Parts: sequence; C-alpha cells; structure tokens
Amino acid sequence: MNLKDLYINYFVSKGHKQIPSAPVVPENDPSVLFNTAGMQPLIPYLTGQIHPYGTRLVDYQKCIRTNDLDSVGDETHHTFFEMLGNWSLGDYFKKESIGYSFEFLTSILKIPVDKLAVTVFKGNDMVKRDDESIEAWMSHGIPKERIALMGEDDNWWPNMEATGPCGSDTEIFYYRGDNPPKVFDPKDENWVEIWNNVFMEYNHNEDGTFTPLPKKNVDTGMGYERVVAVLEGTRDNYKTSVWKNIINTICEVSGKPYEGNEKSIRIIADHIRTSVFISADESGIKPSNTDQGYILRRLIRRSIRHAKNLGIDINSDWERKIALCIINEYKKYYSELEKNKDVVLDVLTNEKIKFNRTLEKGLREFEKIVNSIEGSIIDKNFAFRLYDTYGFPIELTVELGKEKGLEVDEEGFKEKFKAHQELSRTASAGKFKGGLSGNGLVETKYHTATHLLNAALKEVVGPDVHQKGSNITSERMRFDFSCDHKLSDEEKTKVEDLVNKWIKEGIDVTVKEMPKEDALKSGAECMFIEKYPDIVTVYSIGNISHELCGGPHVKNTSELGTFKIKKEEASSAGVRRIKAVLE
Ligand code: ALA
Repeated sequence: MNLKDLYINYFVSKGHKQIPSAPVVPENDPSVLFNTAGMQPLIPYLTGQIHPYGTRLVDYQKCIRTNDLDSVGDETHHTFFEMLGNWSLGDYFKKESIGYSFEFLTSILKIPVDKLAVTVFKGNDMVKRDDESIEAWMSHGIPKERIALMGEDDNWWPNMEATGPCGSDTEIFYYRGDNPPKVFDPKDENWVEIWNNVFMEYNHNEDGTFTPLPKKNVDTGMGYERVVAVLEGTRDNYKTSVWKNIINTICEVSGKPYEGNEKSIRIIADHIRTSVFISADESGIKPSNTDQGYILRRLIRRSIRHAKNLGIDINSDWERKIALCIINEYKKYYSELEKNKDVVLDVLTNEKIKFNRTLEKGLREFEKIVNSIEGSIIDKNFAFRLYDTYGFPIELTVELGKEKGLEVDEEGFKEKFKAHQELSRTASAGKFKGGLSGNGLVETKYHTATHLLNAALKEVVGPDVHQKGSNITSERMRFDFSCDHKLSDEEKTKVEDLVNKWIKEGIDVTVKEMPKEDALKSGAECMFIEKYPDIVTVYSIGNISHELCGGPHVKNTSELGTFKIKKEEASSAGVRRIKAVLE
C-alpha cells in the first residue's frame, strides 16, 4: 500500500479526521506565494478557531518551496513535495503524539528501533528542557545516546523570528545504511530527518512578545518523498517509485538514459511536476512576470532549456507527454489534476511556444556575449538584454553563466530592471503616448503590432491608408484608418497573413533620434505632425515601417505572437476601424 494511504489509515484509526489538501496557492494568506507546510492552511485553527472536523486531523498537503529552486538538479532537492501531517488542536499532547509516531514507524512501516534517533529541545530563557518528550521516547525504548538535546536553532519551529503559532519540537531521524552507530550524531549525514513533531504552545506576536496559545496543539510534518527514498534505500530521491514513471517518460521522449543525464532529467521532472500542480490549482495562476506566475514561468522556461540540453525536439509534444504521465500518477490523490487537465496542458504548451520563439536566438546571443567578454563577469546590460528581448529569467542567465564559469552582475541587473520599470511608469503617466494607454509588456507588443498593421494596410489596401487613431488595452488593439470601403474578407486575410509573416520573420525594431524635418523627408509615417517636438524618435521595423513615435516597442517582431483581426467596421465617414488581438 502507498505510504500516503498507510499514514491516513493509521491516524484515522486513532480518531483523526482526514481533511483535503488545501490549494498550493494560499487562500487567505497574501504573505506567502505558496503553501510551504501542512500547517499553513491550519493557522487559524492552531490559534484558536474551532475546526469543523474536530480536534484530531490528518492529511497529505501539496507544498511548494522555491528558495532552493536553483539547487534542483541534485539528488535531493525538489520544488514540490507532499507533506504528511497529523494535528491535535488542544487534544492530545507530547506523550500521545510521540507514541503515535513511534507506533506508525515501527509497527506500520516496520522500521527497526535501532535505526531511529531523535532530537529534543534543550531549553532556553522562556521554555525549559523538554523532559516530557525525553521520557516519552525512552519509554518506547529509544536509548539516551540516541536522544540529542539541541537549542532553539534546531528544535524550535518555525524559528525564533517568525511570527505566528510556534513551539519547541522533537525531530525523528532514520539511519541510512547498515550498522547504525550507538551514539546519535545529528551532524552525521547518514542520519536523515524524517518527521517533525512540533508542540505549539505560543503565538509569536508582531511586537516580538510570545503569548501562550489558548490551547496546546501538536503539528507534525513528514516529507513524503524523503521517507519513500529512505524506505526504498536510495540516496537519489529521483530513483524512487515516486519518480519512476515520470523519469521513464522523460527518457523515452528524449531517447536518453537517466545515467549520465541526471541533472537535466531531474530538473525537467521536478519543474514540470510543480508546474502541473500550480496550473491545476483552482487559483488559476498563469505564467507572468510577477509573483506565482513568475515562478511558474521560471520553472517552465528552465525545463525547456534542459529539454533542449537533452536533445528533445522542443516543437514535439514532449511537455504534454510528461505532464500527462504526472497527472496519471497523482490524479487518484488530487482530483483537480484530471479536472483541469486541459488548462494544465495549455499553460505548458503556450508558454513553450512563447519562449521557443526567442530561445534559440537568445542562446546564440548568450554565446556571442561569452565570446566577447573579458574577465568573468556578465555585464548587467547583457543580462538585461537577455531578459528583455529574449525572455530569459535572470536566474536562467545566472545558470548559463555558471556553466561557463562566469558570474552575472545580478545587482546591476536589478538596478537596471528597476530603472526600466520606473521609466515605463513615467512614460505611462500622462505624456503623449501615441495611443498607448498602459505600458506593460502586452501593451508594448500591441503598440508594435499597430505599426505592422499600418504598414500591411498600406500594402494590401493602398498607399492612401493613413492612421487616424489608435487605442490599446492589455486585451486588444484598436486602429482607425482612412479608407473608403469596407474591407473584403480577402483583404482582411491578406492583411493578417502579412502581419503574421513579418512576425515570423523576427525583424528587429530599431529606434533613431533625428530632427523632425529629416524624419519627414525620409518618408516616416506620422499622424499629428504638430504634436511632435523638433527632435523626434523614429521607430523602424526593418524596411517595412518607419514611424515617428514615442515608443516603447518590442525589440523584435518575433515577440508578438499571432495577430488576428476580430472586427472591421465603420468608424466615421471615410474612416474604418479594426479591432485585433495578439494570441
Ligand atoms: N510544521 C512542521 C514542519 O513543517 C511540522 O516541519
């Protein structure tokens, strides 16, 4: 039987009610991006609220921890994991909690007592040594030498700084390998922590004080992946039954064995799994440049880059195959995976298509940078260009750099990033914006698409077409132009095709400052000449379009996506209006 089922069954048999896993994106806690522990959704109940299921609870909870995201690739790190947890809300305390843990490990999982050791809180100014736990462990046959007394750095959860419910804990360790030493040394890496029983008695208030909670609670957490790994006797977490089918699928789609390709395969396995869970969550997170969406974007983009490392054809449906395998593996426990399957697959594929448009060029650009720099630092301007033009999350550039023995000026990048954001904000704060209402990435794309549409209309309908107005939101673009007839379906299709052809061609968008007179002489398009200062900026898209314009624009047309006309209608006499979107 699966460890999750064994765990739930055991605690249910001890009077616990099973509660469902909460979403990975916390519902009532904006201070964290993701649930990082089983207790997180239970905080209101640990601090006094009555839980509708009673005082004894058990679950398996989806958790995401991203602080070690860039360490994923080794044997033990994951960004997603499941935490098995049981709680007493003012019900039983230390003695019973330790008794349950001991019985589950030794009677249900059949772990020999000789392979177990524990740490117990040695006391501080506020809370005295945890003799009750020491006695409880000894009563079950854990010898004194296997009980290590530790301070608040090790045996206080979450830590002395964090606010909220907290308390001392006792941690249970398992010895990997034969012949466990008589005396427990927590620093010996063969001892692996498998379970944490926290005795929550205090609330750490915002003002720094600790006050006793209305009731004494128990909060326990056991990392599912880690326990499976120790039970199956492997040090490489990715070699357990948890990952077997997922890794096999990656080996199949890449045609590469696990041995020799561990890093990329682990990264793809972990990152796609986490992406599947984030995008299946009811919160509806999509890849973006902020918060959870940015984590999702980083995860997918890093997997794509490692899929490329493995020689996977990025245009094939590799990401869907891996995601479907993951959904299959987990749907029994998390029904939202099956329910939101199409959403998950769309998120992965859409983000792949988006990134794949610029990945190749970005990697070539990176090679160029590497060959051109002297010293070992990748300049902030290069890093920013990779981010801004090619969509490389800074962390990806750092990883690429590391592989070449180079460092990235991350501080400089951050400054540039901030300055860029501020510039965008100033630009959108009311200056003449050429019809640009917002100034986000999406609006910027629409802005460039407006220039392409203007040029395409001239080519398809005739040189008399001129821009009469434009309005952009993050949802769509609107473009008014002089024209004496309703566009035929054929004309519309031709315009669409032409714009999409230019997008596909990946044409650079360049900008030049020049005197207004020269700009006009060079034939640059311009809507209201009197609105422009004497020195103007002219944006050019290859030889296709030259327009007087305040920007901003994307760097290359390949960033735009697919252009689609949604509506063509009359605006006023001799003026037609097109509404279009980028998909
Ligand atoms: N909340 C405790 C932990 O995450 C059980 O370790």
